[in-house]
Amino acid sequence: MTTASLVTDFTRLPEMPEGVYTAPLKRPERVGEDWLEPAQRSYTADENAIWDELFARQMEVLPGRACNAFLQGLERLDLGRGGVPDFGRLSDELGALTGWSVVPVPMLIPDHVFFWHLANRRFPAGNFIRTRETFDYIQEPDVFHDVFGHVPMLTDPTYADYMQEYGRAGWKAMRYNRLKSLGALYWYTVEFGLVMEGGEPKVYGAGILSGPAEAVFALEGQSPNRIMLNVDRVMRTDYVIDDLQPTYFVIESFEDLYHQTVERDFDRLYRGLGAGFTYANMAVIDVDDVLHRGTLEYHLRGGRGSGATPV
Ligand SMILES: [Fe+2]
Repeated sequence: MTTASLVTDFTRLPEMPEGVYTAPLKRPERVGEDWLEPAQRSYTADENAIWDELFARQMEVLPGRACNAFLQGLERLDLGRGGVPDFGRLSDELGALTGWSVVPVPMLIPDHVFFWHLANRRFPAGNFIRTRETFDYIQEPDVFHDVFGHVPMLTDPTYADYMQEYGRAGWKAMRYNRLKSLGALYWYTVEFGLVMEGGEPKVYGAGILSGPAEAVFALEGQSPNRIMLNVDRVMRTDYVIDDLQPTYFVIESFEDLYHQTVERDFDRLYRGLGAGFTYANMAVIDVDDVLHRGTLEYHLRGGRGSGATPV
């Protein structure tokens, strides 16, 4: 993510170069080029109760499994005070700690807009909450995933800097048409990352922190691989978006993550990368520093939908 050599104005929305593939998203009429909602919506009593129930459920699982930065962030921002947090108050409190704010967006937003917000220390969060029918699993990130899962981590100064650098790195990935590779890095760190603490892995990835079953599976399951993070390797690795992960990547510390990425020559990396992924998401390869070689039993039995137990 070396940015020193770049003359890039991160205050301006980056232009998406022609030929760069992104998800076909239709922008609702009420939002502008920045994809920001005019205001955070107000939630009904039942929707606020859904937040409280999700919060309580996660807190049965996360102490002892989530990393310290996350648990401290939850407390500092007092996200369990009841109901969906108000983004204004949250932004004031988070802003005082690390300069980040939380802004409402209608749904998944285009990559270049997402990068632009991150580069300016704005975290886009879904302006809706799941229903009771989708209580356990939703594919589209809602306010619980975004705020409970991601925002506490932004109270950690090093992690907060990493997220901003990730946004800045998007400009370069777009120029090289390597958004998928940069997306894999996000996936295996920000969404599903583990970090060593007291000699064992803990969770910092928002996808794990905001879901009911994955923290136990990721840390204690025999099935998944747990491998020390190597940025080049991870950016060549495929990932699944609709099931538990077959492989988790572990960092030494947030400083390690920051240095592994910010000091890397991404121009060189992108020039050497093919357009697709080299490694399957279950693969263990020669260069891997393996903490746990998984049995892959859960995925080999068919994963989600097959009735296989996440073990
Ligand atoms: Fe997320």
